[in-house]
Amino acid sequence: MTANSRREFLTRGLALTLATKSLAAQRGYTHAEAEKLLAGGNPNGKLTKDDLCTPALVLELDAFERNIQKMASYVKSKNLSLRPHAKTHKCPDIAKAQIQAGARGICSAKISEAEVFAEHGIRGQLITTAVVGKHKIQRAVQLAGKAPDTIFVVDDENNARELSEAAQASKVNLNVAIDLYFRRTGIEPGAPTVALVEKISKMPRLKLAGLQSYAGYASHTPTWAKRREVSREAMLRAVETRRRLEKSGFEVGFVTGGSTGTYNIDSDVEGMTELQPGSYIFMDVDYNRIGGQDGSEKYTDFDNALFVLTTVVSRPEARKAIVDGGFKAFSTDRSFGPEARDISGIQFSFAGDEHGSLDFSKASRELKVGDRLEFIIPHCDPTVNLYDRVYGVRGDKVEKVWRIAARGMSQ
Ligand SMILES: Cc1ncc(COP(=O)(O)O)c(C=O)c1O
Repeated sequence: MTANSRREFLTRGLALTLATKSLAAQRGYTHAEAEKLLAGGNPNGKLTKDDLCTPALVLELDAFERNIQKMASYVKSKNLSLRPHAKTHKCPDIAKAQIQAGARGICSAKISEAEVFAEHGIRGQLITTAVVGKHKIQRAVQLAGKAPDTIFVVDDENNARELSEAAQASKVNLNVAIDLYFRRTGIEPGAPTVALVEKISKMPRLKLAGLQSYAGYASHTPTWAKRREVSREAMLRAVETRRRLEKSGFEVGFVTGGSTGTYNIDSDVEGMTELQPGSYIFMDVDYNRIGGQDGSEKYTDFDNALFVLTTVVSRPEARKAIVDGGFKAFSTDRSFGPEARDISGIQFSFAGDEHGSLDFSKASRELKVGDRLEFIIPHCDPTVNLYDRVYGVRGDKVEKVWRIAARGMSQ
């Protein structure tokens, strides 16, 4: 083949590919074509929500970006650091977006989650659950070898000693934060914490990084005024512990805590240095209900960005419809279910693993098989853990596909 005829051959090939692509766009993509674009991770607006098989996790990028920016600017305006909790999203692309917006790193819940984030290049991790047991301790030491700025929480002298011995054997240094007790894990703030820090300070290869002070019970306490009372009480104990440690000559690099519900409460506790909210990027029905600072019933500091898209698969009774989303599409520990979006008067009840039952006798419109409905999720963290991907959309267009790479990583 001459150079000219080869060029002509290639040009014709390219024209044919482009023509096929635009034909596909006109007639709509087949499942295989759509899946190829989605698996590539960057459908770039070629697909719409109609191309997604349901149930699907859908993220409205405009709202998500607003939420990320709002929290980042607020925390910056208070001269605090932000280390958002990534247990909410388990997604390296989202962690990168948070860091790009100013976060100093992320929190992860468990060692296996942290390993995935580290593999994706995320640094500055604080693992907020103690690493207990010999295999997990080995993993912690390995992780610290690769990502030396990782911080591990401890609340127990023996566990700290085991970490120290493993670190010593591998010649790796481990940063530790003391987990303070607020009704779940941790050690009592005050004198017991000072005593533990004194012991840890004598253990080789362990370095005190800071204090972990998450009071989960405060985050969803309804009414802002009550939430403020509950959260301040806990955080004041944390910062008082910091003062006691510093008086005893220990350097405390940070006091971190807080949540989506208490970010603008804990930020005003003098001595707090860092916030670790998680759900603010997505929001859910639970958070919508906690009440705003202005006394309003609905908490609107952050926008609902995350939805589950479902399809009506059956209409067994006059005013009843069944969608293809049950407990495997919405995971919740709450007493209420998902809330339908863009249609009022729908009552959702779980109808098993695979289905949701909708009573639409008071709904603003009729429902038929094949209709697609979006729902606000009752509790975002455990629901995200059910999905391999989250689809980032603007309007109807699917712009991004992000892998929830740490889903299922609960060890
Ligand atoms: C230790 C810790 N910190 C922070 C958070 C973030 O809380 P939220 O998602 O309510 O903002 C959580 C959530 O469970 C948590 O367990």
